[in-house]
Amino acid sequence: MKNIVLGLVFILGCNTHIWSQEPDALMINTFNRKTTSLNGVWHYIVDPYENGYYNYRYEPFDQQEQVSANAYFTNTKAQRPSDLIEYNFDESDTLQVPGDWNTQKEKLYYYEGTIWYKKSFDYTKTEDSNRVFLYVGAANYKTEAYLNGKKLGAHLGGFTPFNFEVTDLLKEKDNFIIFKIDNKRSKEGVPTLNTDWWNYGGITRDVKLVETPLTYILDYFIHLDTEDNHIIKGEVNLKGEANSAHEVTVEIPELGIKKKLVTDASGQGSFEIKSRKIDYWSPENPKLYEVSFSTNEEQLKDQIGFRTISTQEDDILLNGEPILLKGISLHEESPITKGRANSRADAEKVLGWIKEMGGNYVRLSHYPHNEHIIRLADEMGILVWEENPVYWTIQWNNPNTYANAENQLQEMMQRDKNRAAVIIWSMANETPVSDVRTAFLTNLIKTARKIDSTRLISAALEQSSDPNNPNIKHIDDPMAELVDVLSFNQYIGWYGGTPDLARITEWEITQNKPVIVSEFGAGAKQGLHGDRNTRWTEEYQEYLYQETLAMLQKIDQLKGMSPWILVDFRSPRRPLPNIQDDYNRKGLISEEGKKKKAFWVLKGFYDTWNKSGNK
Ligand code: GCU
Repeated sequence: MKNIVLGLVFILGCNTHIWSQEPDALMINTFNRKTTSLNGVWHYIVDPYENGYYNYRYEPFDQQEQVSANAYFTNTKAQRPSDLIEYNFDESDTLQVPGDWNTQKEKLYYYEGTIWYKKSFDYTKTEDSNRVFLYVGAANYKTEAYLNGKKLGAHLGGFTPFNFEVTDLLKEKDNFIIFKIDNKRSKEGVPTLNTDWWNYGGITRDVKLVETPLTYILDYFIHLDTEDNHIIKGEVNLKGEANSAHEVTVEIPELGIKKKLVTDASGQGSFEIKSRKIDYWSPENPKLYEVSFSTNEEQLKDQIGFRTISTQEDDILLNGEPILLKGISLHEESPITKGRANSRADAEKVLGWIKEMGGNYVRLSHYPHNEHIIRLADEMGILVWEENPVYWTIQWNNPNTYANAENQLQEMMQRDKNRAAVIIWSMANETPVSDVRTAFLTNLIKTARKIDSTRLISAALEQSSDPNNPNIKHIDDPMAELVDVLSFNQYIGWYGGTPDLARITEWEITQNKPVIVSEFGAGAKQGLHGDRNTRWTEEYQEYLYQETLAMLQKIDQLKGMSPWILVDFRSPRRPLPNIQDDYNRKGLISEEGKKKKAFWVLKGFYDTWNKSGNK
């Protein structure tokens, strides 16, 4: 029954901000820009029926000519005793940003739906002519953003950054940002409905205001020439009121480099610099140079490592030398907060464990992790596999799903293309072979190579058994022809048979490409001990690692591995009481930070595995 209520109408004001649904062009390297953090305490309202977004006829409030005061993003307060307003952010509970909501509030542990966040703040620009952007490291899964009651736009995807220009909307006092975050899974989503990880919702990474000059450095890509490692090359992309030619100076003081270039009318410029003094980046020598890009309005610095990564037949070459990737897979969970990881402290903890196991490589599964861990990997000399969340049974024939997957891939590569540690872009994980799936992934690879021709492309591909002998395995996934590195997950001894099955299993890999075994592993409850054939004991996991490593070493092309997984992680698919309790137990370390016996098996292997050690 609709009450005829003269609801308060939120007056949009004369300069109604006509918003575009899309975020603005993604700026890179906010770490070295002029920023104001908006991390901290935000008010929130749980809204499972999206009552603050749709009117009772299920029409979006923010697409009505006159916006009702019932729209939560207006943050309307009752002015008169008779006013009817049925929400109030400032009297609502609070959440810490960044941070998932599931692990901050007991009642939100399983919550999947919309939560509104609100933050008030004052802001004074340092220069009146400057521009200001609202930058979000990530928010899972769908974001609608508003400032001072006006729509900024929307973003889809839970693991990549986005930014909106807010220059015209900011006031010196009493600004309020409101985000509508909806983490509901969907069939057409990327990832789709089924995943083996917890669907942490919320503003899960840093939020900051970024102030730039009128014409600012949006983006740059600086790297070694893939054919000549005495040449540093790249491009710079300026964005301005009226994109026009600007002079940019690229400086690398430690190499005595100072190179000027002029951008074209669209703000693009490229450069090429010769240097015979480069100290190349590597795990043993993670050398980072201070590089600066200067225009007459700003100087933007970054810390850049120079290295080449390539393949030659079945070798992976780092700076022209064969390298073995001694790695481990990792979900983005904090051993400190037990929720979504989002800080440098989280990254220091987990990358420290990788160094302790003798690792030089990490597979950041199954989605782009936060920028802190990528930048720390640069500093610590840990090579990185980054992955787009095209996971399992994606809707291959849905053009919106493809556009979403491609957009998330582009945002991941845009953010991290200047990080030396990142050597592999992974398009997908364990996706069922079909013509539409192969077409989908083939197009993603084309997009990736267009953005970045300097890195390797891979994906966890499908494997199959010889019809006459199930213990003979092949990698006949059609994607094997298109990737640079052949990767696959295998669980012999866990999802098929017991660890001794590895002894009679053979891998017949015909492709002359490097092989990375991107996953293998077994579940173990830390502290549970028993016979090595008793599932869930540390001894079973230890036994599986011993048998699996012996099996995999027979693969001539084996040049890397990232066993599943460094740390136990939450998943709704793992409810077994007193063993899993919502955790996938394949970690070599428990969520409490306690190592299991298999950790030392892998460490022992990495300490001895060498280039000729594959026999
Ligand atoms: C798969 C998948 C992982 C999953 C793992 C498991 O290979 O890639 O995301 O967690 O197996 O079953 O533990």
